[in-house]
Amino acid sequence: MSAEAFLQIKNIVKDFDGHRAVDNVSIDIAKGEVFALLGSSGCGKTTLLRMLAGFETPTSGTITLDGRDLADLPPYERPMNMMFQSYALFPHLSVFDNIAFGLRRDHLPKDEVRTRVEAMLKLVQLEPYAKRKPHQLSGGQQQRVALARSLAKKPQLLLLDEPLGALDKKLREETQIELANIVHDVGVTCVMVTHDQEEAMTMASRIAVMSEGRFLQVGAPAEIYETPASRFVADFIGNVNLMDGTLVEDEADHVVVDCGDIRHRVGHGITGTRGMAVTVALRPEKIRLRRDGLKSTAVPEAGINRAHGTIKEIAYFGSFTVYHLQMASGRVLKISQSNVDRQPGAPLTWGNAAWASWTDLAQVVLTQ
Ligand SMILES: Nc1ncnc2c1ncn2[C@@H]1O[C@H](COP(=O)(O)OP(=O)(O)OP(=O)(O)O)[C@@H](O)[C@H]1O
Ligand SMILES: [Mg+2]
Repeated sequence: MSAEAFLQIKNIVKDFDGHRAVDNVSIDIAKGEVFALLGSSGCGKTTLLRMLAGFETPTSGTITLDGRDLADLPPYERPMNMMFQSYALFPHLSVFDNIAFGLRRDHLPKDEVRTRVEAMLKLVQLEPYAKRKPHQLSGGQQQRVALARSLAKKPQLLLLDEPLGALDKKLREETQIELANIVHDVGVTCVMVTHDQEEAMTMASRIAVMSEGRFLQVGAPAEIYETPASRFVADFIGNVNLMDGTLVEDEADHVVVDCGDIRHRVGHGITGTRGMAVTVALRPEKIRLRRDGLKSTAVPEAGINRAHGTIKEIAYFGSFTVYHLQMASGRVLKISQSNVDRQPGAPLTWGNAAWASWTDLAQVVLTQ
């Protein structure tokens, strides 16, 4: 056990009638961390969260919070609060009374209830809305009331299941940052579940990428994005070009991977052996796209870290544009270019021939 582990999950397994929903998960979470479980539908996120909350009993394994084994602690005695996807505010109660609900149920003195609710209203910036009913609030405001209610009892651990799932995309993006700020300000340790990678990236200090009940990779958002450990993770987080190839050169400072029509020179952290089958992952934004002729130097046919092709697709996203560059072999490279210039001189368009190039630090070489 690491010294600062506040929440410790050890070899947790959950079987439902022979179906393994959570498969031997172990993780130490430090105090104050915001930890996200990220994965596609059915991978076991909610099940793991429900075991933390005590709504499900693990088939095997242990969960300890601040050194205390939670096994025999019923949900209502656990020092944690779970906020569900449909945050279910009481429609007939005012914002104030919604936040006060759990405190009154615990028979806190009236003054204490008032002080805490007011502090919570201030925290989520809803002081002027205390008297309103939930239906008189926007979705994002309701969500903040639910968060205030979850935090009012000062839980040691906050569990959020798809906290922003009920909001539309635009509102979700705004609320993500607000929610992250509130959680950080309070300093509460938080485990959140999401299948939205942007939500995980913006809110969490660490992310566990889950698949079929297991943790495939755990790391800080940038770590997961820039150095994915496997094809699955590279492909699951963001966009990526995956190219299968063979390691043909293995030097101290670089390796060369032959992917047929593209040869990659990779200048960082690879240990492999010649002849080994690998996959090169290359993010679209790490590629530069240029028109024919812009490059004055002669470019070899099968260049290293570059490719020649024809633009087959263009998707304009406002701040960036995604191009599909088809090579003679038929391979398509996805390339994204940020639209720095408002009125570019001669924009690339359908059917243009173009060169793609990238540096030897742009790729990740994957062996699994
Ligand atoms: N009470 C249950 N009884 C039987 N099977 C269950 C039960 N709860 C969950 N499962 C199964 O366990 C697996 C994991 O479910 P879980 O709800 O944890 O997924 P999830 O990752 O939260 O998915 P989503 O993103 O769709 O919410 C699924 O195959 C699900 O059908
Ligand atoms: Mg779920």
